[in-house]
Amino acid sequence: MKSLDALLASTSFSDEEIVYLLSLALPSEVQKLQRAAYNVATDEIGETVYYRGLVEFSNICAMDCHYCGIRKSNRNIERYCLTQDDVVESALWCARAGYGSCVLQSGERHDPRFVRFVEECIKEIRRSSVSEALPQGLGVTLSLGEHPLEAYQTWRNAGAHRYLLRIETTNQKIFEKIHPSTQRFEERILALRNVREAGFHVGTGVMIGLPEQTLEDLCADIRFFVEQDVDMIGMGPYIVSQGGAMIERGMMDKEPLLQLALNMIAVTRLVLRDVNIASTTALQALTHDGREKGILYGANIIMPNITPRDVRKNYQLYEGKPCLDEGRGECRGCLERRVISTGRCVGWNEWGDSRHFRKRTVS
Ligand code: 5AD
Ligand code: FES
Repeated sequence: MKSLDALLASTSFSDEEIVYLLSLALPSEVQKLQRAAYNVATDEIGETVYYRGLVEFSNICAMDCHYCGIRKSNRNIERYCLTQDDVVESALWCARAGYGSCVLQSGERHDPRFVRFVEECIKEIRRSSVSEALPQGLGVTLSLGEHPLEAYQTWRNAGAHRYLLRIETTNQKIFEKIHPSTQRFEERILALRNVREAGFHVGTGVMIGLPEQTLEDLCADIRFFVEQDVDMIGMGPYIVSQGGAMIERGMMDKEPLLQLALNMIAVTRLVLRDVNIASTTALQALTHDGREKGILYGANIIMPNITPRDVRKNYQLYEGKPCLDEGRGECRGCLERRVISTGRCVGWNEWGDSRHFRKRTVS
């Protein structure tokens, strides 16, 4: 195999090389990987980090993913759904704060009322957020799970333009173990295809450090991102959830898990180069500066939580979610300092769309 320095200067990688890069643990080697990924991000997409204000508008969920704290079988949480006014107000807070985009995320529901509710929220957000600073209004990303093509089209036509739907893992055996048998891998793939067909910028991602997951699996996940030609990636460490059904299967120790998650971000940046990659909140659940580390390892998106404080505690997908008690305003100042500490700047009032999307749609 090539030397590490030669490998990090490459633009294409064998599976063996990807697995080797994911496995790095020596501080001197990890630092080289980090620098290489950071520099590729600078060269390919610039020095700006974009915000997407995250509105977790409902924890009512028809699904039962074993890892997730808001799965439908968890009877120990209070269920909520914000009103349209509250959703729009949260989004407008984003617009005023200069965040440029919001993400509407919730548990999965398939009833026509839900589809209409989301449609109305999107229209109202797009309409009422137009200002001098944001002439096109706030960018709207959705993260609402699997739906038929028609629902995706309805939301796309209402004015949302990006959609996140994680594959969670491309190892089908693991996928089956962490989901009930009614939730099928093939259906998730089909939904991702429909997201693309509806015209969204497509985002997917995986959890890192799942029980039984190997470095080869993570390498296959990266290959999947390439095959699917995705525009955006959101990945984070798997963290055990008290409301989940996988407690006895445990989780990786925090330190190696954090390093593996960071290596995964860096290697994904080296291989996919021009996509948007989120530095997810789950990283910060492992260490207070987890999101800054994600940026240093090549991520360029942050999703500050702007869910109203009184319901935030009921949207705990996993243990140790940060900023449960911070107000939105406190997060704004705190985050900007964190971003600047990484040598990046914040793209205020910009949508910050994926370069990759522009390239794949222009040609
Ligand atoms: N640990 C880490 N991420 C989780 N998610 C759900 N539960 C957990 C957990 N215990 C992630 C899933 C899902 C996203 C909304 O949250 O990847 O797609
Ligand atoms: Fe599937 Fe929450 S129930 S991610």
